[in-house]
Amino acid sequence: MSIGNMVSVWKMSCRVLICLLLVCTRIMAIFSVTDGGDLAALNALKSSWKNLSPNWVGGDPCGSRWDGINCTDTRVTSLILAGMGVEGREFGDISSLTGLRFLDLSNNVGLEGILPSSIGNLKNLTVLILVGCSFFGPIPDSIGSLQQLVQISLNSNRFSGPIPPSIGNLSQLSWLDLSMNRLSGSIPVSNNTTPGLDKLRSAQHFHLSNNQLSGPIPAQLFSSNMSLIHAIFDYNKLIGYLPISLGSVQTLEVIRFDWNSLQGSIPSNLRNLRNLNELYLSNNNFNGNMPNLTSMNVLYYVDMSNNNFNASEVPQWFSSLQSLTTLRMENTTLQGQVPVDIFRLPQLETLVLSNNNLSGTLDIGNSYGSNLTVDLQNNSITDFREKTDYNLELTLVGNPVCNTSKATARFCSIETHNNNLLPSSKCGAMSCSRDKVLSTKCQCSHPYTGTIHFFFFSFSLTHLQNSTYYSTLYGSLMSAFLSNGLPVESVIINNPTINVFSYLQLPLQIFPSGQDSFNRSSVSRIGFLLNHQPFKIEYFGPFFFLDEQYCCFEGSKKSSQVGLIIGAAIGGSVLVFLILLAGIYALRQRKKAKRAIEKSDPFASWNLEKESGSVPQLQGAKWFSFEDLKKCTNNFSESNCIGSGGYGKVYKGTVASSQVVAIKRAEQGSMQGAHEFKTEIELLSRIHHKNVVSLVGFCYEQGEQMLFYEYISNGTLRDCLAGKSAFRLDWNKRLRIALDAARGLSYLHELADPPIIHRDIKSTNILLDNNLNAKVADFGLSKLLGDAGKGYVTTQVKGTLGYMDPEYYMTQQLTDKSDVYSFGVVLLELVTARAPIQHGKHIVRLVQEAIEDTQEPQKFDQIIDPSLEPVSKLGCLMKFVDLAMSCVRESAAERPTMGEVVREIENIIKLANFDKKTDKGFSLFSSEETSDENPLHSYPAKGFDASYGSFPFHVQRQ
Ligand SMILES: *[C@@H]1O[C@H](CO)[C@@H](O)[C@H](O)[C@H]1NC(C)=O
Ligand SMILES: *[C@@H]1O[C@H](CO)[C@@H](O)[C@H](O)[C@H]1NC(C)=O
Ligand SMILES: *[C@@H]1O[C@H](CO)[C@@H](O)[C@H](O)[C@H]1NC(C)=O
Ligand SMILES: *[C@@H]1O[C@H](CO)[C@@H](O)[C@H](O)[C@H]1NC(C)=O
Repeated sequence: MSIGNMVSVWKMSCRVLICLLLVCTRIMAIFSVTDGGDLAALNALKSSWKNLSPNWVGGDPCGSRWDGINCTDTRVTSLILAGMGVEGREFGDISSLTGLRFLDLSNNVGLEGILPSSIGNLKNLTVLILVGCSFFGPIPDSIGSLQQLVQISLNSNRFSGPIPPSIGNLSQLSWLDLSMNRLSGSIPVSNNTTPGLDKLRSAQHFHLSNNQLSGPIPAQLFSSNMSLIHAIFDYNKLIGYLPISLGSVQTLEVIRFDWNSLQGSIPSNLRNLRNLNELYLSNNNFNGNMPNLTSMNVLYYVDMSNNNFNASEVPQWFSSLQSLTTLRMENTTLQGQVPVDIFRLPQLETLVLSNNNLSGTLDIGNSYGSNLTVDLQNNSITDFREKTDYNLELTLVGNPVCNTSKATARFCSIETHNNNLLPSSKCGAMSCSRDKVLSTKCQCSHPYTGTIHFFFFSFSLTHLQNSTYYSTLYGSLMSAFLSNGLPVESVIINNPTINVFSYLQLPLQIFPSGQDSFNRSSVSRIGFLLNHQPFKIEYFGPFFFLDEQYCCFEGSKKSSQVGLIIGAAIGGSVLVFLILLAGIYALRQRKKAKRAIEKSDPFASWNLEKESGSVPQLQGAKWFSFEDLKKCTNNFSESNCIGSGGYGKVYKGTVASSQVVAIKRAEQGSMQGAHEFKTEIELLSRIHHKNVVSLVGFCYEQGEQMLFYEYISNGTLRDCLAGKSAFRLDWNKRLRIALDAARGLSYLHELADPPIIHRDIKSTNILLDNNLNAKVADFGLSKLLGDAGKGYVTTQVKGTLGYMDPEYYMTQQLTDKSDVYSFGVVLLELVTARAPIQHGKHIVRLVQEAIEDTQEPQKFDQIIDPSLEPVSKLGCLMKFVDLAMSCVRESAAERPTMGEVVREIENIIKLANFDKKTDKGFSLFSSEETSDENPLHSYPAKGFDASYGSFPFHVQRQ
């Protein structure tokens, strides 16, 4: 064959190739149905968000049914990623999905950032659900241009700033839930130029509780031509009067204005609300006469406790409301005799009249509701006509009658209730393997779990058991799941609790049917169903659902890409050819790259025998070869793996014949550059302190980066607090752990040279050794505080959600005070045993609110770790909490230094005066240091009366 021939054959085959390629792309284009813009937007999300479904591959989200996506024709109409564990901060691209009708990103705590105002482009959006994420900053005004919106649920985020008045433009809006955020300012109402919430004539639900809304309630907010059924505004900072206009909204079923600072008298026209079922007005400053609620015959639940009403006899209407299940009138200056008629109310379950001046003889009569609970604590009742067969729970603690022999002890002591809904197991001795759970139908699987939070309820907890309430709830949930085609086998509803906001919380376990675990699509649809709530549950109001991230998604379906398969078949030969070409190219590139790496790699020139040149300057730490390590970790076998994290895995191994080490092996994606790695080992090798985990050696070879630390036997502080380890930490031990960790950290800040900022202080980075000495570990993110002497370094913000210093976060300036903040969070964990973010709420806010709440001192008690000793026995608890709170002050300048923290903890331990003799192993001070002290007990500043009302609605610790 001549050269000319060869050239023309070559040209020919090139042409054929090009044609084949063209045909191939054509065919793929025909089968690809998704709108190009939508595809680009989803691909952008894919690259900026973590943990999206693995089936998000290929070029056709609609055709190949990416998890969480529904389409109509070529446009993406719903994006539902509820409970997927998605993490990310960028949202810009969602706004180009202009066909979207449903957007639900709920229960992704790792989604954070500011909601972009471009969300206003989603003109067809009808449902927006972002419950339980970590959004912060203002709600954009542009939300008011989404004319189709029917539901807005932004519950349990960190939104701040005012409620945008533009929401008033949403004429279709039925459900507005902005609860559990940090919204401030007044409730917006319209004027000539600006819209406001009063314009929402179709709205049925205003759920605005648990914010910082202030100012008076505008009278204009309520009018007779609205459709409102729920006016829920509890736990805000509202002042002034309850407007008379409220009484004109005939549709109202629930009113919650409790826990505000409202005053004046309660408008008498509330009586005209003939549909009202629940009225919560407790914990305000209402005064004047108690309102007359006669003839409100569908009222189930009334709570007007803790107001300043004029002293009065027990009003007539108490005994006339035939539907009442619950009447709570604690601390409302009631006096005189309790009328016997009140006990005859047919539905009555709970009557709380504690802390009043009720007197005389208590007569309950003969006919009263079964399982009636009556709380008359702290009154002036002198006598009780008791019958032996009373079937009720009654407490008379704090009445003169309890000082006489007339009352039976059972009415003069406080009982605690165990609200356990778990049906008795019918599965015999069956048990499940590790981390599976037994369903009521005796199947082992991985349930999807979370908690339903009801905004209100109309019955008492004791009645939730063994009653129609429970079966109604169970039936409603199951029928909602099944009618939506969800593969749910059964649910378990357990341990109902009432939280500090009087919300009923029901932990839920949802079991998959016919399989071990749910797939992603099922979890997101369950999450959507629960927060979208197209169904109602009789006796229970609306709720919000916060999940615990699902452990074990069933392997996602591989996408069935018809287009791709046909394309691949036709273009198969082309592809083979291209792959060959690519292979050759890649080989050449690799050689090139290797040469380049060798050039730039300072380690390449390391000569480990001669410590010179660019060899790391190590103090004590040793170099190990990869082969040594393979041997000592049994070839990195799973059984030697003791942990894993974002950077890779941690193995346990034995080096130098006896020393046990923890080997941190970086994964491909998390390798550092050679320079960084060198810096890190140099830094680590210089650190020697008994409260800091020390570096034993390292390995840098064969594309591996490994660090060996001394092995700390008792695991992390987090596991220990979470009850995952064998021993219990009492208060004494916790104080010592705090001191150890503080000393370690203070060493890094103040004694290491140059000083080191840890950057990732958290309870999982504090390890406990055999003697429960704490050591600070993991310097993966550490920064040297440069010699520039400015006291801070500017860095890309890194760290762990929940521990991150807000000032660092905003300014990107890292100082040693950023560690102090994180350490403060750890101190709060020691007290509460809670994770820093639980149910979307940050521990700092939780504790702050509990401390500030002077009206309900027990709120503070509730957040203390229940596995600790009784609160009164926790020496210096309040001092300790004060210290923690000073560490988490917003302004870094106002936080103490770690040295100051160490001294204060030492001081606290001294004051708490632990008995050295019984606890020799932990002796901290030489005898002269402690001998001078009297046993000084610093009790919490607030009243921790052990007898406070765990009756009948005790707020349970979670
Ligand atoms: C998504 O599509 C599925 C199946 O076509 C349908 O059952 C479901 O209701 C759709 N969801 C939404 C939110 O449109
Ligand atoms: C929005 O909805 C309308 C009515 O259903 C429809 O005609 C229009 O195409 C939708 N817009 C987009 C961008 O999908
Ligand atoms: C209308 O209300 C807005 C904010 O609520 C306020 O800024 C504006 O001054 C008001 N305009 C008039 C004419 O009162
Ligand atoms: C409450 O209202 C009812 C019905 O109007 C009336 O009969 C009753 O006297 C009122 N009670 C008081 C204490 O004013």
